[in-house]
Amino acid sequence: MGKLRMPNRAVMVPMTRGRATGEGVPTPIMAEYYGLRAEAGLLITEATAISRQGSGWLNAPGIYTETQVAAWRPITERVHAAGGRIFLQLWHMGRVSHPDFLDGALPVGPSAVAAAGETHTPTGKQSYVVPRALDAGELPGIVDDYRKATENALRAGFDGVEIHAANGYLLDQFLRDGSNRRSDEFGGSIENRLRFPLAVAKAVADVAGAGRTGIRISPQGQYNDMKDSNPLALFSAFTKALNGTGVTYLHVMDPVTADHMLSNGEPQMHPALRPLFPGTLMVNGGYTRETAEAALAQGTADLIAFGVPYLANPDLLERLRAGAAMNAPDFATLYSPGVKGYLDYPVLNANATP
Ligand SMILES: Cc1cc2nc3c(=O)[nH]c(=O)nc-3n(C[C@H](O)[C@H](O)[C@H](O)COP(=O)(O)O)c2cc1C
Repeated sequence: MGKLRMPNRAVMVPMTRGRATGEGVPTPIMAEYYGLRAEAGLLITEATAISRQGSGWLNAPGIYTETQVAAWRPITERVHAAGGRIFLQLWHMGRVSHPDFLDGALPVGPSAVAAAGETHTPTGKQSYVVPRALDAGELPGIVDDYRKATENALRAGFDGVEIHAANGYLLDQFLRDGSNRRSDEFGGSIENRLRFPLAVAKAVADVAGAGRTGIRISPQGQYNDMKDSNPLALFSAFTKALNGTGVTYLHVMDPVTADHMLSNGEPQMHPALRPLFPGTLMVNGGYTRETAEAALAQGTADLIAFGVPYLANPDLLERLRAGAAMNAPDFATLYSPGVKGYLDYPVLNANATP
């Protein structure tokens, strides 16, 4: 894919695990965690804030300070030493951040429309607030933050970056008419709503260089209170327009439940998007060995990304090859600090060198 030589078609999806410091600095246990999974065709990191304004999840990492960049370096080195490839997921949370993360400032969004729901902040559970609508004049500055974050990721040794345009964060908020009520050139028609996410995609792909940029969408996702009047028309137009941006792969998240993100059985939209994107198509959402093989055989996807199965099974590939049983995930430790539920899942063959 692009400049990457991938030994297989299995990818580890981005998964927030909350093991960085309160200042968004990656920790040494994260090198161990990613290093153990380096056999994947590609690893994608947990969502990583591109700026202070874009942050807003307890102990999630960032890539906007020199301390953060330096702390990512041993992680990419560990993955490369183990023969792997790793992209960083670029994240701006937009309206679903909270003043507790922003020195009391309001989070920003396309429009002053709050998401329904609650978030965990350093002071406990809090409702989402009404965000401050971004002025059009501020958008070039955010594009610039994406640019700098991409440069930082390359300096930290990443093989590329994935733009997070899924799951109700800033770019998804701009895409959908439930959260984007703007009347300027960034809102209203589908063409207008694509404008800012496309500017980001182009800027990131320009900085990263050929073959080093992916983008993730969740066209059927309701996560973070996302709504749109016509998701198929919107995401078909976005997919087509991405062809002109230099993006190498499109990562489509199929419909999953909002709590543990397991497949919810709805028919998937990605086969309709497939013919619109001649680049690499990665799909994710509730895949098993059987459904992954079926998607590859039918040609509706090039790469299959695994989430929960990968966090619970560092040796996922070996288990897929062997058709072996999987460890059950421990949902209580998905986001909790420390090694429990992070580095202690057993492997099949404890004597094998990873
Ligand atoms: C603990 C956890 C954290 C997640 N964090 C992210 C994230 O940071 N970025 C993202 O795009 N998706 C995130 N997701 C969604 C996953 O990438 C994936 O789409 C979801 O788990 C469904 O795939 P699966 O059925 O293979 O687990 C997260 C899911 C889980 C369970």
